[in-house]
Amino acid sequence: MQASRDQWSSRLVFVFAATGSAVGLGNIWKFPYMAGENGGSSFILVYLAIVFLIGLPILCCELMLGRHGKRNTMNLFRRFNRDYGTSNQWSVIGWMGALTGALILSYYSVIGGWVIEYIFKAAGNMFAGVSSEVIAAQFKSFVADPMQLLLWHSVFMGIVALTLAGGVRGGIERAVRYMIPLLALLLIALIGYNIATLDMGTALNFMFDFQPEKITPAVVLAALGQAFFSIGVGMGAMMIYGSYLPEGKPLLGLTSVIVVADTSIAIFAGLAIFPVLFAFGIEPGQGAGLIFNTLPIAFGQMPGGVIFGTLFFVLLFIAAWTSAISLIEPMIAWGVENRGWGRKGATWGISLIVWLLGLLTVFSFSDLSDVKLFGKNPFELIDYVTSNILLPLGGLLIVIFAAWILPATVAREEAGIEPGRDLIWKTVTRFLCPAAILIVFYHSVF
Ligand code: TRP
Repeated sequence: MQASRDQWSSRLVFVFAATGSAVGLGNIWKFPYMAGENGGSSFILVYLAIVFLIGLPILCCELMLGRHGKRNTMNLFRRFNRDYGTSNQWSVIGWMGALTGALILSYYSVIGGWVIEYIFKAAGNMFAGVSSEVIAAQFKSFVADPMQLLLWHSVFMGIVALTLAGGVRGGIERAVRYMIPLLALLLIALIGYNIATLDMGTALNFMFDFQPEKITPAVVLAALGQAFFSIGVGMGAMMIYGSYLPEGKPLLGLTSVIVVADTSIAIFAGLAIFPVLFAFGIEPGQGAGLIFNTLPIAFGQMPGGVIFGTLFFVLLFIAAWTSAISLIEPMIAWGVENRGWGRKGATWGISLIVWLLGLLTVFSFSDLSDVKLFGKNPFELIDYVTSNILLPLGGLLIVIFAAWILPATVAREEAGIEPGRDLIWKTVTRFLCPAAILIVFYHSVF
């Protein structure tokens, strides 16, 4: 058995931490530009369907495996081997997840750095009275300067490492309690401002007008990847959070809270951004710069924009921070529990590797912007491979393991599936989830 492991101090704290992991740049930075690149409503409606039909059950499975096994994600499957005779090869879920988490964090940290820069831009009143062209030019010259990106990337990774070095209780819990509700409130205020001053109709049509003919395999794959990324499922981050969760209380309810919170915030972000975009004739498919080219326009024009803008980027930074820490927690826990490394040494060592990988993204907007593989620069490639391939693949293995390999009683107890609902649960986890992922993969390849 393991030496005693850290645990969340209460279930509520776990819900905050898991929601903190789910809500991040994926909701506010990535969701709008992915929707913008993939035709708006067709992407968003597919996304919503995937989140609830596939993402939610898989998240529940992931949490369930973590809580039931009570070990780090690499070691967990050996315990299942001991208890249930399942194959040790399922450990690939943990290893692949560790790699995925490091790759995601490598670019996540760079974008987190952009957010820090924008805190200072907003606080320095850089947006007031300037045109949308000037705001776009500010962004362009910022990302073209690798030294600036490197500086903020280092700061962001440093903060992540400091937090993680403190351990579960000391570090993670404190960060998440108040910030997510505050972020939601601020987004609602922004939406209120849009309703008062801008035309919402075009944006609402863009986001929700159902146009089935625009749903292509590429759109569905993008929505699948975004759903996994935004909920934070498929690489073991939630599994490790689940492993710090005390027994009791069925997981399905907790899972729904996390998923609903995550999805609402993404939709809020869309409603905050798209009206501004249409009012100022900004291109929705421009990629990663979208929120940095739209929201500052709104902040520049509204009364109190300096305060709103600064607060917004501070909150976005905190949301990014509470997500980032979950991405390498599995690996750190493995270093501590299996290798006997000190928590601090494990954290700084792994963070250094991620920092180095981040250089690929730092230079993707300048020196490496023309170095393309499959038409993508290094940042776009890492993002594509992790979100669209590795996370859904991880999710597929998780749900197959949970639904087909583990004894069914485990799910019944951990998730809290009532006898009458057993058939629904089994249909969804055994058939619907795996089939849906396989079908999307198949159509994207052929
Ligand atoms: N969900 C976070 C976001 O939306 C990012 C994140 C945290 C994540 N943990 C994860 C993504 C695990 C994939 C897997 O920004």
